[in-house]
Amino acid sequence: MTSGVAVILAIESSCDETAVAIVRGEPGCAATVLASEVASQIELHREHGGVVPELASRNHSLCLRGLVEKALAAASVSMRDIDAFAATSGPGLASSLLIGSTAAKGMACALDRPFLAINHLEGHLLSPFIDRTEVPPHLALIVSGGHTLLLDVKGPGIYQKLGGTRDDAAGEAYDKVGKMLGLPYPGGPEIEKVARNGDCRAFDFPRSMLADPHLDFSFSGLKTAVLYTLQREGTGVSVADVAASFQQSVIEILVGKTLRAARTSGRRTVALSGGVSLNKALRAAFLTAGSEAGYEIVTAPPAWCTDNAAMIAFAALLRHLAGESSPLDGDIHPNLPLA
Ligand code: KG4
Ligand code: ZN
Repeated sequence: MTSGVAVILAIESSCDETAVAIVRGEPGCAATVLASEVASQIELHREHGGVVPELASRNHSLCLRGLVEKALAAASVSMRDIDAFAATSGPGLASSLLIGSTAAKGMACALDRPFLAINHLEGHLLSPFIDRTEVPPHLALIVSGGHTLLLDVKGPGIYQKLGGTRDDAAGEAYDKVGKMLGLPYPGGPEIEKVARNGDCRAFDFPRSMLADPHLDFSFSGLKTAVLYTLQREGTGVSVADVAASFQQSVIEILVGKTLRAARTSGRRTVALSGGVSLNKALRAAFLTAGSEAGYEIVTAPPAWCTDNAAMIAFAALLRHLAGESSPLDGDIHPNLPLA
């Protein structure tokens, strides 16, 4: 266990956002995010309708140095003030993970500081607690473009998986349905926008696996149901009604399964993280159903829901304060599990 204040610089480059953050913290105190810089590649990938790995990794290497300098300037610290360097080591695109991980290792090596390899999912999971003094035992739902995970969190680093998706992740379903509806990539925020003007009862899409006793998810049947509806209804269909009905189905599945998991685990706090947790309708549904059932619902501020490096720096800070570090010859892990 390290006592005293620590300053961590972390890099996130697991997919299509290059991000650098600097976080300062000490045991028992809320962490301070001194800088959080994100260079989004959304525009770059938009014309391809999804992430192109080769373009992503090239762009990470092009903008990383500038982002590190920007973060240091924003935080008003120098390289010498950094106590440990961290990077996402997985899961993610191999060629993208390599860029951030190699850069952080290089800086750690040059400055003779520890390096911490961080699981991207642990970053998301801890993100709702960055500005709190502790991570309490809770039930966590991570909903992103690549993952839909329910975990029982006993404390930092002690996670038990309760359920996950058997096919598409929730964000992936949003993105694929967005594409079917002719909306720009990524589909999640676009569907949320158009759904505001739609009738969420217009189409009765399936709530797959909601009634099943296990805590796994499935979104591919819902996606196919949207496709068949679009084929059946033709060009006259209301995009807003389809979007709203699709979103309603996703929300009911996520809220229903998560609150069931909370009941089963006996946790009173439920934390939401990941890009899909930005969705205002989803947050509102969780707040209504959760508070009616007596749960505290904790969400991250919007900037820490989609991919960012502050969540990676915070996860690294907790591990550094606990006396942990990672070997410099450790590999990246594109399929790294969390629990
Ligand atoms: O956490 P994230 O940035 O990256 C991954 O680790 O996957 O999540 C990105 C996902 C995308 O699928 C995107 O469509 C979805 O989050 N997303 C949303 C919203 N904003 C982003 N989904 C629904 N509603 C939103 N407002
Ligand atoms: Zn993510």
